[in-house]
Amino acid sequence: MASSAATQQPHRSGRISMPRTSRISGFRDLSVEARRAAVAETADIAPESLAVLDPDQGLRVDLADRLVENVVGVMGLPVGIATNFVVNGRELLVPMATEEASVVAAASNAARIARVHGGFFTSTTAPVMQAQVQIVDVTDPEAARLRLLEHRDELVALADSQDPLLRELGGGVRDLTVRVVPSRAGTYVVAHLHVDVRDAMGANAVNTMAEAVADRAGEIAGGRTLLRILTNKADLRLARARAVFAADALGGAAVVDDIVHGAALAEADPYRAATHNKGIMNGISAVVLATGNDTRAVEAGAHSHAISPSGHYTSLSRFEKNADGDLVGTLELPMAVGLVGGATKAHPVAKAALSVLGVASAAELAEVVTAVGLAQNLAAVRALATEGIQRGHMSLHARNVATTAGATPEELPAVVARLVADKAVRVDHAERVLSELRANA
Ligand code: MEV
Repeated sequence: MASSAATQQPHRSGRISMPRTSRISGFRDLSVEARRAAVAETADIAPESLAVLDPDQGLRVDLADRLVENVVGVMGLPVGIATNFVVNGRELLVPMATEEASVVAAASNAARIARVHGGFFTSTTAPVMQAQVQIVDVTDPEAARLRLLEHRDELVALADSQDPLLRELGGGVRDLTVRVVPSRAGTYVVAHLHVDVRDAMGANAVNTMAEAVADRAGEIAGGRTLLRILTNKADLRLARARAVFAADALGGAAVVDDIVHGAALAEADPYRAATHNKGIMNGISAVVLATGNDTRAVEAGAHSHAISPSGHYTSLSRFEKNADGDLVGTLELPMAVGLVGGATKAHPVAKAALSVLGVASAAELAEVVTAVGLAQNLAAVRALATEGIQRGHMSLHARNVATTAGATPEELPAVVARLVADKAVRVDHAERVLSELRANA
């Protein structure tokens, strides 16, 4: 990659990041081996560190056997690299684990459009997770709430004493809040511990704390403690991304207006919102999975955040036209991802993915993930607002079909073009096209 001292940028963490560009021309036409070499060079990591991306060198069965129960094997998923990303001025190649064709290409394409106006701009709140302690059989729930708050310092100190290492790292318990929750089976007093979990996803830390304070909280409230567990509605741990997509690069002013219409339907209509948000999660879950994080936790947090103040399910992102006529996209959602603990440290492919990203904190990872979600969303809504989703999808699917039929890399373009033109993206047709092509060669 071309490099010069002038392109060196101070990293948000204060590190000097290597000069690099995520805009690698012709990346998709390279062999897998050549792509890996380009990724290693761009990310400034040892090429050997990406060898774990080979199925036989990745997650071995004996390691898998230590991660979960009753292991009989390991399931592979493609890991693609989204190119073109710039996040807060930093060039990034983004590993994405997904089984869905066109996701990686679509994210890369949207990131290329965002580059015109500087890429993605992101921010996060502090990494505060919450644990809930449910207290049942309380005769005076409102008074119990205040009694618990009067003992806030005692309960916070008790919870904090569970994790001295977290405190050493600058994290720890930040607050205690208490809610009264009426339900069909009774009125519950629910205490929330707010914990800054630093670079962890945080489930283990906050669950341990919730269990540690449960008895005392029940005693103060005058009831019986029941559930003690984190909430995946991690709405104190938000990540945000914003990007401007130039009207010209999107296809013109009419495309901007139609994307705004498409996004407005998702805001107003839960049926469309579910699919719109699924498009966001195509990007988010792929990066969360590639980095060994908990996709279900992030998905639960995202969907819980998609409830509007008036109580209806809505879209997580917003698209507006700015004063210059360009499209501005924004996305904000809970993002409980970590860099320490769990599969992020144990899974060799997750470790390699994190080294490609070169992120220095969980917050930075959360921001990249959110930028990818916004890119993915823009790509889908743009396709839907213009030519429809199938044409792009089918030509990528045609590559898979042609490869399955035995096309060599040299034969691929011609076979793909025929399958798409004939509107017959099937293996039997690809085999026929391939024999014709070879007979005529
Ligand atoms: C398909 O995986 C995702 C989309 O349905 C998202 C959307 O409709 O916005 C294309």
